[in-house]
Amino acid sequence: SRTAVVIPAAGRGVRLGPGAPKALRALNGTPMLIHAVRAMAESRAVSLVVVVAPPDGAQEVKTLLDDHALPDRTDFVVVPGGDSRQESVRAGLDALPPGIDIVLVHDAARPLVPVDTVDGVIEAVRDGAPAVVPALPLADTVKQVGPAEAPDAPEPVVATPERATLRAVQTPQGFDHATLRRAHDTVTEAVTDDAGMVERLGLPVVVVPGHEEAFKVTRPLDLVLAEAVLARRRA
Ligand code: C5P
Repeated sequence: SRTAVVIPAAGRGVRLGPGAPKALRALNGTPMLIHAVRAMAESRAVSLVVVVAPPDGAQEVKTLLDDHALPDRTDFVVVPGGDSRQESVRAGLDALPPGIDIVLVHDAARPLVPVDTVDGVIEAVRDGAPAVVPALPLADTVKQVGPAEAPDAPEPVVATPERATLRAVQTPQGFDHATLRRAHDTVTEAVTDDAGMVERLGLPVVVVPGHEEAFKVTRPLDLVLAEAVLARRRA
């Protein structure tokens, strides 16, 4: 079986503060996207990585990949993305050659995911799951809130889901290629992850263990944590 990875990296990353698109920000001197690409290519099962660049930044991203050492046994392709993460992932799927039967979708914003997590996802798809998500239990209790009664009023809590049944979902998420393609061709609601689209098809999605180091670099503090993780790996 052949496995490809689509890396949506077309987001602006506004929550990280002003500057370059998030995926192009440096972590210890190397762009986040390069860390993410290397993390995927580290898996021996991965034969192709499709990077989805900002719509006006495909050439810049191609140059970036050319300028960094990447493994020979993996092919790398860059395509321009869209306005939403969903559109960007679809652009990545459109670029897949025939013969790919497993597809992973991995956020460029999770540059430090360990290869064991990647391989665990691929293995679960090989074992027959149409969709697989790596996930971790939550440290925080989560509250569902309703709309505030006035613009300055506090939000009311409407429910507290039982924490033990909740999981924080990471990437790479893994899919049977035909299933993910069908989800992208038929589901029109906006979702925040790809497995959510497969759920809309009524197909089973299963969880495998995620990893602390697969956290998403979203806010400025996450950059501090990511650089500390890299420093610890080098020590
Ligand atoms: O915004 P969020 O952190 O959820 O983005 C997750 C991933 O989706 C990031 O890697 C980001 O670059 C990507 N993305 C994209 N195209 C968009 C929006 C986000 O590829 N239009």
